[in-house]
Amino acid sequence: MKIKSADFVVSNSNVAQCPTEPIPEYAFIGRSNVGKSSLINMLTQRKNLAKTSGRPGKTQLINHFKINNNWFLVDLPGYGYARVSKKDKKVFQKYITDYFLSRSQLLSAFVLIDIRHEPQPVDLQFMQWLGEHEIPFSIIFTKADKLKPNAIKRHVEAYLKILTEEVWEEAPNNFITSSLRHTGRDEILDYIDAINKDYYQQKGL
Ligand code: GTP
Ligand code: MG
Repeated sequence: MKIKSADFVVSNSNVAQCPTEPIPEYAFIGRSNVGKSSLINMLTQRKNLAKTSGRPGKTQLINHFKINNNWFLVDLPGYGYARVSKKDKKVFQKYITDYFLSRSQLLSAFVLIDIRHEPQPVDLQFMQWLGEHEIPFSIIFTKADKLKPNAIKRHVEAYLKILTEEVWEEAPNNFITSSLRHTGRDEILDYIDAINKDYYQQKGL
């Protein structure tokens, strides 16, 4: 898919105020600093469309970007930063879970995982939560430039093995990316394009 336009639409913390237009939507989610905003800039080839930072917690709101005038890309804050008391075990911020539960136009989520790290409970819990709510998602491994090719293979295989042993019967669809080197861009955009085409075909458009 060619990106002809990428426009910021709105930021907010209230899901009720997100755009209502019934066009396909894709959300990028993961721990803070994993590279969500950088990936959005890489995919859209816009340097500063989504704000990035070396310090965790840069993205604080639900940010809608309209791409090619016919689909939304959504940049979300990192999850897992809500205060967790012993009594209240909720790990994910309410407006993030509200977002996923209320956006019927969301065709797929992308859960970003730093390719260098071992599976972390918060990521596994979030994927499990998505599964329980029947929200389709793919995994995007980020920062692949930080590892050599054989280490990339080893890390991804180990990660998917744990997922299939502990969480799922089948490993989720996954992509290996580097925003620094523009790795994985075509694969993700082609994947989104195929889903969009199905969506518009079913609508007879
Ligand atoms: P929050 O908004 O805080 O949740 O973070 P985020 O997930 O949006 O991360 P962001 O895109 O702001 O990137 C965090 C840091 O990781 C920045 O310093 C980026 O430059 C760096 N980074 C992101 N992607 C890559 C990548 O592919 N390779 C390398 N080497 N660094 C990356
Ligand atoms: Mg961000």
